[in-house]
Amino acid sequence: MTGEAVSAGADLDRFRAAIARRLGLSLDGQSGSALLAAWRRRAAAAEVTPAAYLLRLDSPPSWSAEVARLAEELTVAETYFFRNAAQFQALTQAVLPARARAAGPGEPIRILSAGCSTGEEAYSLAIAARETPELAGRPVIIRAVDVNGSSLARAVKARYTPWALRETSPEMRARYFRPVGREFALDVDVRTAVVFEQRNLIDGPGDLGAFDVVFCRNLLMYLVPDAARAVVAHLARALLPGGYLFLGHAETLRGLSDLFELAHTHATFYYRRQDRRAGSHLGTNRTLDAGSLARLEQSSTPDPVSRGQQAWIEDIQRASDRIRTLTAPPLTGAPAGSASRDLAALEDIVDFLGQERLADARAALAGLPAEVADSPRGLLVRAILSSHGHDLAATERLCDHLLQMDAGNAGARFLKALCAQRAGDLDAAVAEHRLAAALDPSFAMPRLYLGLLARRAQQAGSARRELERALPLLEREDPTRLSLFGGGFGRSALLALCRAEMAACGGAR
Ligand SMILES: C[S@@+](CC[C@H](N)C(=O)[O-])C[C@H]1O[C@@H](n2cnc3c(N)ncnc32)[C@H](O)[C@@H]1O
Repeated sequence: MTGEAVSAGADLDRFRAAIARRLGLSLDGQSGSALLAAWRRRAAAAEVTPAAYLLRLDSPPSWSAEVARLAEELTVAETYFFRNAAQFQALTQAVLPARARAAGPGEPIRILSAGCSTGEEAYSLAIAARETPELAGRPVIIRAVDVNGSSLARAVKARYTPWALRETSPEMRARYFRPVGREFALDVDVRTAVVFEQRNLIDGPGDLGAFDVVFCRNLLMYLVPDAARAVVAHLARALLPGGYLFLGHAETLRGLSDLFELAHTHATFYYRRQDRRAGSHLGTNRTLDAGSLARLEQSSTPDPVSRGQQAWIEDIQRASDRIRTLTAPPLTGAPAGSASRDLAALEDIVDFLGQERLADARAALAGLPAEVADSPRGLLVRAILSSHGHDLAATERLCDHLLQMDAGNAGARFLKALCAQRAGDLDAAVAEHRLAAALDPSFAMPRLYLGLLARRAQQAGSARRELERALPLLEREDPTRLSLFGGGFGRSALLALCRAEMAACGGAR
């Protein structure tokens, strides 16, 4: 790279790597020409050559003002009020009342919106807190951070288009907004309840604070794994023990080991930071600052924070190929003797199911020892077999049993959705399909069904959106999982179905 001459290829890779280091963003999916254009634009604005720009961006001292300007070019700011209504129900009906019970009398509840964009999420949190009777008379502190300064400037103005309020009920709209021309101005009390701050979450934890609830939705999905690891580390330290973390619906977390447990209410998932110090001299001491909390964790246990977050991030990284209870190797290691034979027999049943040889599958299942038949994998195999036999009650029972052992099992959720569908309870079916899709964003069948069910409900817009998401998932879906959950249809038939349904509701073919 010399002087002005930057080009696609190696130069662009270096620019991408610099962005990943400074902003955490993964730009692999972004078009090379758009990225080059942004690079040249920012270099021109800084009055340096693109080569000099890259050098400065990538070397100390930190060029934070420019990093923030780059963020304005490169981050995705999409957001709206009350995005993911189920999460707000869980917040107001379960999480905030629980945190109010844990707090001392008159002690404030603290909430963080991390990656708040233009403010809709933070203000929704402020409104939700006001609508929670258990918080009446209690101070609520809401802090909102984002790296993108122009988004924050819009947040502070608190003027929104009707589109930003598309998921806000007419009652809430009337109570908290005032029409001004073609926009809506937010109630001043709600506006002043939120403190906004420009902050790059990749840069150290600083003094984020100690929070009862953190919303960090639709941010991790844009980051490279190392950056996501760093952000999660900061947020985990900023959460009080027993506090709650909400991620975006496509950002899943399973098997958090030390620090978090999966919570599931109101047809949505979120995470609770375990209170591992309960009974210790700290108990749930809510007045700890984040720094002392982090120090304590480091001194009292063998780095539980990094182990927990390692598990989390690995989980996110594996999002595309995990929860394949049926397609993954049954157990790690190579069990010897009869154990190995039993597991092989379970795999044979998986094969029989895939080929719809149900009688063979039943016969092989009858020969399995109880501990294999009652293992998570065994339970899922049995549930699939029951669903093939249209035994809804048995399928549900087996799925519920499996979910008690493995709350994040997307296959079990999907089967429960099919049961609800067959029983005519379409609302429950949609809720279960959503859970399955949220638990495993790479799982194609629940997405396809969400599209089909939306079509049936004559919701062309959401049908199209779901089908557009289902299509690439179907193209990549694991063949074994497709044969097990695809209802007897092969990949090409399912793709053709998906395309035809998309075309029927006005989407691209
Ligand atoms: C898609 S928006 C999500 C907004 C909101 N949380 C929601 O779910 O509706 C993602 C936000 O994350 C912010 N963001 C991305 N990288 C960041 C970083 N390193 N530090 C702080 N904010 C970041 C972006 O500027 C953007 O506003």
